Formats: sequence, C-alpha cells, structure tokens
Amino acid sequence: MVRLPASFLFEVLTSNSDRQMEFWILLIALEFFLAGFMVWIAWPTIFGAPWIPTPKDKARSMLELAEVGHQDTVYDIGSGDGRIIIMAASEFGAKSFGIEMDPLRVMWSRLAIRRHGLSQLVEVLRENFFKSNIENATVVTVYQGVGVNKKLREKFSKELKPGTRVVSYRFRFQGWTPVKTNEEASSFLYVI
Ligand SMILES: C[S@@+](CC[C@H](N)C(=O)[O-])C[C@H]1O[C@@H](n2cnc3c(N)ncnc32)[C@H](O)[C@@H]1O
Repeated sequence: MVRLPASFLFEVLTSNSDRQMEFWILLIALEFFLAGFMVWIAWPTIFGAPWIPTPKDKARSMLELAEVGHQDTVYDIGSGDGRIIIMAASEFGAKSFGIEMDPLRVMWSRLAIRRHGLSQLVEVLRENFFKSNIENATVVTVYQGVGVNKKLREKFSKELKPGTRVVSYRFRFQGWTPVKTNEEASSFLYVI
C-alpha cells in the first residue's frame, strides 16, 4: 500500500524505538549517499573547467583551423559528452581520444561512440588530464579556463612532439602567440 510521507513519518516517529532507530539509520545512510554522489559529480570541477559543451559549429571550426585529417590523432582535453572526438572521427577521419574525469560524461560519450559505430577510431579515457599520457597526439583540442591553460602549457611544452597543433576554444594560452585565429569561432591555433 502507498502511504503519504507525512503519515508514514508520524507512524515511524511514534512507533517503538527499534523502528525509530531503523528510520534514523536509513536517513543518515541516504544523506551519506547523496553527499557522496554530489562530490563524485562535482569532482572534475575541482581540477578544471565544469562541463560546458562547445557548440557543434564552433567544434567544427576548431578542427578545420587545425586542418585535421585521417592521418591525425586528436586528443580532447576534458572531452565532456565526446562531441569533438566523435566529430574528428566521423567528419575528418581522424583517430581520436577523449580524456574526461566526470563518470557520467564518460558513460554518455562511450554510448554515443558505440551508437555512431566509431569504436575502432574513438576512445574515451576516464582520467585526470594532468596525469594522462598525451605524447601520441598530433592535434590537441582544449576548452578550459585561463588558469587551467597556464598549467596545461607546461604539460604540453614538456610532453607534446614538436609540430603538434593545439586548438583552444575561447581562452588563449598566455605567453604563446597563436599561428592562426578564427575570431568568429573564438578559436586559437598554436603549434608546439
Ligand atoms: C568546458 S567542458 C568542455 C567539454 C568538451 N571538450 C567540449 O568542448 O564540448 C570541460 C570538461 O573538462 C572536464 N574536466 C575538467 N577538469 C578535468 C580534469 N582534470 N581531467 C579530466 N577532465 C576534466 C569537465 O568534466 C568538462 O567535461
């Protein structure tokens, strides 16, 4: 039988102490579960930008700016729902990897990759991008903030091969001069 929450609460709180104890244990367990779930979801934003997807036309402009082709290996740093890596493979023929910490986005993008039949070309790694091995990249796409870009600049300088193209959406890399800019698409291309 479905009971109204208020009458259920009243019954529990006026019943014997065993039921009251069960109720409080259940309530505390639920609070811990909810707090854990919130931390799990918010975790990536401690390390980088929150999930704000790049509009698809802008994502296409980024890949065009870097002249991505089938010979390329594209890494999207914080790949969100996987739209850039899926586009790099489906429209530009490139092999692509996404690095993403948010477990829900990772799950979502893996399903999307399967739905597009791109499992041979596209992979999502559930990792902190600051710790990922990205040395195989020939193109790197980034949509983070100024502070994160500053830290990424050090990583890219150390780990990426000379000639690797880096395209950043909306935020520049301070101290680097873009070799090409698409003002309309707010995209900046750098070459290591
Ligand atoms: C602004 S969104 C960009 C998403 C995607 N690249 C796009 O253009 O649509 C930034 C993404 O980076 C992820 N992220 C932030 N810090 C991260 C880290 N240290 N390691 C992996 N992913 C991270 C977030 O979860 C979020 O999905």
